[in-house]
Amino acid sequence: MSVIVLIGAPGSGKSTVGPLLAERLEEEFVDVDALIEQVEGRDIPEIFLVEGEPYFRQVERRETLAAIECGGVISLGGGAPVDIEVGKALDQVCVVWLDVSARTAADRVGLKDTGRPLLGSQVHSQLVRLMKDRRAVYERPATIRVSTDKLTPDQVVEAIMSEL
Ligand code: S3P
Repeated sequence: MSVIVLIGAPGSGKSTVGPLLAERLEEEFVDVDALIEQVEGRDIPEIFLVEGEPYFRQVERRETLAAIECGGVISLGGGAPVDIEVGKALDQVCVVWLDVSARTAADRVGLKDTGRPLLGSQVHSQLVRLMKDRRAVYERPATIRVSTDKLTPDQVVEAIMSEL
């Protein structure tokens, strides 16, 4: 089984493109955000609210490393590659960075998004800040980079397939 890990900012399309790519490659698909919610029995905003971000990051690291170990097509939470252990694991596998502008990501995520605790109500300005802070952690491990702004999810899959 191969390992293909999708990384990128919130709104880059990881959770939409991941299942399409997995189907195309006839691989299993795992969305680590969904996995965390399943393991914790509560959604991500509630984990942030009740336990705080450090707890979330600890669970995220554990589940991300386990998912990479299992293989298939894996979409990570936007902040997962910031973790040093996750960063090391990404160096060993095929990493696809879905690059996106803050404007497009904000439009996709919605103007007032309650499902992403780090974005709050100032989605666009928070995304600008977050992308500036994280650009290097997305760029460094990326085997393949696809700019998704002008592409449909199917076109993103085609772009990835042509690079694999
Ligand atoms: C986060 C992104 C979210 C989720 C959590 C934290 C981040 O995933 O893991 O809210 O730090 O950027 P998506 O990238 O799927 O939105």
